[in-house]
Amino acid sequence: MLFSWLIDDDGKDTATMRAAVYREFGGPEVLGLEQVDLPKMSQNSVLVRMRAAALNPADHQLQEGLGEDAMDTIFPVIPGWDVAGVVERVGPGVWELAPGDEVIGYVRSDVLHAGSYAEFVAADVGAFVRRPRGMSWEAAAGLPLAGLTAYQAVDRALAVRAGETLLIHGAAGGVGSLAAQIAAARGARVLGTASPANHDYLRTIGAEPLEYGDGLLDEVRFRAPDGVDAVLDTAARGGLDIIPRVGTAEVRVATITGLHPLARPVFARLDRAHLESLVDLAEAGRLGVRVAATYPLEQAADAQRALRSGHSPGKIVIVP
Ligand SMILES: NC(=O)c1ccc[n+]([C@@H]2O[C@H](COP(=O)([O-])OP(=O)(O)OC[C@H]3O[C@@H](n4cnc5c(N)ncnc54)[C@H](OP(=O)(O)O)[C@@H]3O)[C@@H](O)[C@H]2O)c1
Repeated sequence: MLFSWLIDDDGKDTATMRAAVYREFGGPEVLGLEQVDLPKMSQNSVLVRMRAAALNPADHQLQEGLGEDAMDTIFPVIPGWDVAGVVERVGPGVWELAPGDEVIGYVRSDVLHAGSYAEFVAADVGAFVRRPRGMSWEAAAGLPLAGLTAYQAVDRALAVRAGETLLIHGAAGGVGSLAAQIAAARGARVLGTASPANHDYLRTIGAEPLEYGDGLLDEVRFRAPDGVDAVLDTAARGGLDIIPRVGTAEVRVATITGLHPLARPVFARLDRAHLESLVDLAEAGRLGVRVAATYPLEQAADAQRALRSGHSPGKIVIVP
């Protein structure tokens, strides 16, 4: 049974659901399918029946214990911060959404405990916006975290404008591909590095593909002899070292992979207006999410293994 309501001894209703959980830090091998309690809801919470949950590198990084200095962990942990699904219930303080609404959400919490690799996900109403019309559940699930990161990098940290040239390192990845499309939609020219297998894909999203490696410096200078106006690093493969030789004198630089002396760091944050902008772009046909593979919930560990390979052609997604 997907959703089993029970009446406990006190007469209160409780319920359980299927979820992928871990009870100790580690790799994909610590992730297992369990029957667990439904997430708790407060007055302004929304309970969503998951139709798709997208994986992000943060899921397995945190699962390995890499966030221990910054976040408390309450085991068992259900990983995952990205979800697309249907509203099942709303708290009494919620007027923006109603049961049956189709939504996407960025359900990050400062405590690692209840994420989106589960049949049901609960979070504050501010974490959710409508699902983009015409976008599959799987693609829509890939939009929140990667989209917020890309939007905040392109729009806020770099303030990319029409007519400018943006260089993206790792342009075929979850964040890089959305950043490329957001920049192209506002009239910027996008140069993007990717593995050769992803070059045709980059062309379809409006980016000019470049190869990583020794020839990159010369290739960027050839393509943009006056210099690139902005650079975004999503790949952490040394791509920022060439900036002094490929950027304009005022080049703006951002990275999503940590701290770098030349770059403004971007750490995705929940902003409902930014999520709405992503939905608008998707509905206008300017923003798409490439889905590489879909796994059932009980194969969440295999889904993480696929993500950890580092070169999956698009988002890895879990479905119930
Ligand atoms: N700061 C934040 O808020 C934030 C948010 C999201 C993600 N991140 C971080 O940003 C990075 C990218 O995230 P993402 O979601 O875009 O990941 P992703 O979908 O896995 O994309 C990463 C891309 O980087 C490229 N890449 C190049 N060299 C690589 C290598 N040695 N190993 C792995 N990939 C390599 C791959 O493209 P090719 O196959 O074409 O080479 C891959 O598509 C991750 O480190 C993630 O933790 C940070």
